Amino acid sequence: MRELMEKIREEGEAISDHVLKVDRFLNHQVDPELMMRIGENFADAFRNEGITKVLTLESSGISPALMTAYILKVPLLFARKRKSLTLQNDLYTANVYSFTKQEYTEISVSRSFLQKDDRVLIIDDFLANGQAALGLTGIVQQAGAEVAGIGIVIEKAFQDGGEQLRRLGFRVVSLARITSLKEGVQFAEEVMC
Ligand code: G4P
Ligand code: NA
Ligand code: NA
Repeated sequence: MRELMEKIREEGEAISDHVLKVDRFLNHQVDPELMMRIGENFADAFRNEGITKVLTLESSGISPALMTAYILKVPLLFARKRKSLTLQNDLYTANVYSFTKQEYTEISVSRSFLQKDDRVLIIDDFLANGQAALGLTGIVQQAGAEVAGIGIVIEKAFQDGGEQLRRLGFRVVSLARITSLKEGVQFAEEVMC
């Protein structure tokens, strides 16, 4: 997605060889118009998949996932990282290991919002080692529902999450694929959307 790649070039900041800071439009301040076009791109890519629900993980996945769900006219469901007062029992859960933070987080979704006949589109802001996305696929599978695809805003193709997910047979669509952050941001060939 050309507009996204330009935005990353203009406003993104590589803070190390493997971490890209995009606080100006995605992870802290959010650009709603860009998010809407990101949503349109995901909706276009998965329009024929019979999606019934969009699933993401709080917090930064919510903005692109909401726009996607809005356009596909289906609910947005986000997995929570902390147990809320009202969300205690009857949960699907997964343990997500972050290599970046070197810690496990338990993520959860209420059983009442995923059914066997759901076809779920998983959306996330970043794909690094793929642990968050894998945790979300586990939650969908616990519900007996189908993962219809995975949409990623920024894939760091030099980490192995994308490869793992594709090897497992998931259809992964990334709107920007970064091959290196070592000398400025390097992108893979532009994907056709
Ligand atoms: P993984 O799920 O693909 O294995 O990734 P990892 O554990 O490394 O990611 C931990 C957190 O860091 C996630 O956010 C993820 O979105 C984010 N992240 C990973 N790589 C980058 C990067 O290069 N730049 C930025 N800005 N973020 C990155 P989170 O802890 O779930 O937080 P939230 O932002 O969703 O609240
Ligand atoms: Na994040
Ligand atoms: Na995220």
